[in-house]
Amino acid sequence: MGKVFVMDHPLIKHKITFMRDKNTGSKEFRELVKELSMLMGYEVTRNLPLEDIEIETPVSKTTSQVIAGKKLGIVPILRAGLGMVEGMLSLLPAAKVGHVGLYRDPETLEPVEYYCKLPSDVEERELIVVDPMLATGGSAKAAIKFLRDRGATSIKLMCIIAAPEGVKVVQEAHPDVDIYVGGIDEKLNDHAYIVPGLGDAGDRLFGTK
Ligand code: PRP
Ligand code: URA
Repeated sequence: MGKVFVMDHPLIKHKITFMRDKNTGSKEFRELVKELSMLMGYEVTRNLPLEDIEIETPVSKTTSQVIAGKKLGIVPILRAGLGMVEGMLSLLPAAKVGHVGLYRDPETLEPVEYYCKLPSDVEERELIVVDPMLATGGSAKAAIKFLRDRGATSIKLMCIIAAPEGVKVVQEAHPDVDIYVGGIDEKLNDHAYIVPGLGDAGDRLFGTK
């Protein structure tokens, strides 16, 4: 079973509070999503392997460490996941970005794929799927399946707010995927919105609705 990491850093908790507030406008909401992505990205990348290289400082030669191992890929689930890309890229500027477009059918609540464009060497990369919200888990479950169908083997999922239902769905469908969340809320309501949540993340990011 994949592990679930709930981040307890005070800065993460603080920023999520302001994201939740219904009086927070799109500009500030976008900034918070970016900042949270950076803070959470720090944790998601904690176990990246390192290798020694020789360098020369202005004072002497030395051995120092750089990231080694698999190349990275960031995969936002469109559209709200887009808000997390900039923060992740500022930590991982060499990462490639793939996109998976999904929306929840408002009637069935099932995810419908409308776009998928991934790095050509996706099977060689460690992928971090990003989406602010993990509600029923349908979107994340489907997105991870699309990645697997296209050859991806190493995948992590990073969401800012999750419902217990969504965590369970992803864990059961993809037991080898570790899940990183900023917080796990109480439940889903009858419209599959997270309670207390923050409303519709895509609409709040992009000022739609
Ligand atoms: C939101 C969110 C997730 C999905 C989570 O996207 O960004 O992708 O819902 O819900 P689930 O866990 O029940 O699948 P939405 O479908 O509203 O599309 P959008 O990002 O284009 O607004
Ligand atoms: N998608 C959102 O944007 N918010 C929710 O609460 C659930 C799904």
